[in-house]
Amino acid sequence: MAELPLLSVILGVCLAILYGLGLFSKTSNPRRLPLPPGPKPEFLIGHAKYLLSGSLWLQYAAWRERFGDIIHLKVPGIHLIALNSYKVAHDLLDLSHKYADRHSFVMVDELMGWEHTTTGHVYGDAWKSHRKLLRPTMSKSAIEKHALSFEKGMRACLLQLLHTPEGFEQHLRLLTGRIIVMFTYGLKIDSSKDQLIVEPETQIARVVDLVLPNQTPLVDIFPFLKYIPSWFPGAAFKRNAKVWKKELADMVAHPFNRVKADMAAGIAVPSLTSKCLEDNPQSENEIMWSAGSMYLAGADTTYAILSTFFLAMATHPEVQKRAQAEIDSVLKAGALPTLADRANLPYIGCLLKELQRWRPVVPLAVPHRLMEDDYYGGYFLPKGSIIFPNAWAISQDEANYKDPTRFWPERFEDPETAELDSYKYAFGWGRRICPGMNLADATIFITVASILATFDIGKPRDKDGNEVEPEASYGPGLVSGPEGFRCTIRPRSSDKVRLIKTGAEELPW
Ligand code: HEM
Repeated sequence: MAELPLLSVILGVCLAILYGLGLFSKTSNPRRLPLPPGPKPEFLIGHAKYLLSGSLWLQYAAWRERFGDIIHLKVPGIHLIALNSYKVAHDLLDLSHKYADRHSFVMVDELMGWEHTTTGHVYGDAWKSHRKLLRPTMSKSAIEKHALSFEKGMRACLLQLLHTPEGFEQHLRLLTGRIIVMFTYGLKIDSSKDQLIVEPETQIARVVDLVLPNQTPLVDIFPFLKYIPSWFPGAAFKRNAKVWKKELADMVAHPFNRVKADMAAGIAVPSLTSKCLEDNPQSENEIMWSAGSMYLAGADTTYAILSTFFLAMATHPEVQKRAQAEIDSVLKAGALPTLADRANLPYIGCLLKELQRWRPVVPLAVPHRLMEDDYYGGYFLPKGSIIFPNAWAISQDEANYKDPTRFWPERFEDPETAELDSYKYAFGWGRRICPGMNLADATIFITVASILATFDIGKPRDKDGNEVEPEASYGPGLVSGPEGFRCTIRPRSSDKVRLIKTGAEELPW
């Protein structure tokens, strides 16, 4: 703010006033229904102060008793609508195509180029062609064809956990990165310093800051600022955005061009990219950007749920023991789990669902945008509204779950009485549902099953050797996972140590 010229700020405030008075509002409401309820807005800024309050999903969930399942907020020129129940979110987002759009954020999408990614694309032909390319290549059966590379990556991770258990967070990050890059491009990653990891991680770190509510770039509040020339005093954001846009384009082009070169040389390892290029040679640009979106959308999310797994195991030894007993009863002596064991491990299946429910990784999903005026439950929902389906509120709703704060995989066990399946909302909604769901599920399964087969996860110890409760906080970002907690990770027996070491050193990772 300090670096902006005074004139721009004055202009911005004037515009905000006009927006606030609704002079620019183009929505009609022939049925004259009210907007959904919400807290009292403040003069000029509407509900802007709430957007600065961090973990918005907690705020929306807390308002539920007062305002119900649909809550309306407004900041100058924009309606924001939170959906607090499964039924409402399902009725609107799953059953109607009107909600399949994305709001285009000026800084991140327009100026920095994220509008070309699958996640950032507005609804339209280009986005549809991304989804069409991803559908066959990310189906369950397509993922299963890559089972061996998942299992190899996992073995490398087990060995790292054995040698340096205190570095478990880095090991999990490397594992998720390796699996995504191998699956997407058929390229191997040697270490977390590999450019194929460093480049997308740099992009993610940059955007994570810009999408935090209290970091909203000024140009998103006053969009006309995007027209100031880059050389203008105070326009550093435009100069930065130009550099970052080029870096993003390079990040998606580098691995894509390597795959093309490998294909030309006849040495490409089969991957999502090579398959798409073989089947749709005319769609190079769409293939490049949809493949480039995989790491950006899939790495942090998968990592977050895996860290929640470590936290849940450290704090719920009874669940860990039961899961280990199931694995031991199914695996042959001296074997590690494979993707093919999934069907014989129903309790692990329940554990995976409970991980997604207990701490949803994307608590407010990725916001959708309503493309046409709509009416629901006696309310008017204006075109252009940004829609926040509140996965957190759904996961903690006593109408869906008995004792929702408890970590209890058994709630999904009996098909007759099973509670709401968390996979119905943890991966998003309708046409925008996460295309990486099967890949994520396979990665999480192989990691959870392999780690439980070989290690015990426990509470951390203080300097006198006494167990202490792990302290984990969940951040306010778009993707939410436990941060900065410790736990103990010990091999279950000397046989397991031998199993982890057998052959692992020779793996080509
Ligand atoms: C635990 C793991 C994951 C969770 C919980 C998760 C969750 C989500 C959610 C909630 C959305 C937004 C859906 C919506 O707008 O309604 C999404 C979108 C997306 N996810 Fe995932 N995801 C995970 C892993 C992955 C992986 C592994 C990939 C790919 C490698 C991936 C790729 C994508 C893409 C490309 C989108 C954008 C879809 C679009 O806008 O059309 N995700 N994911």
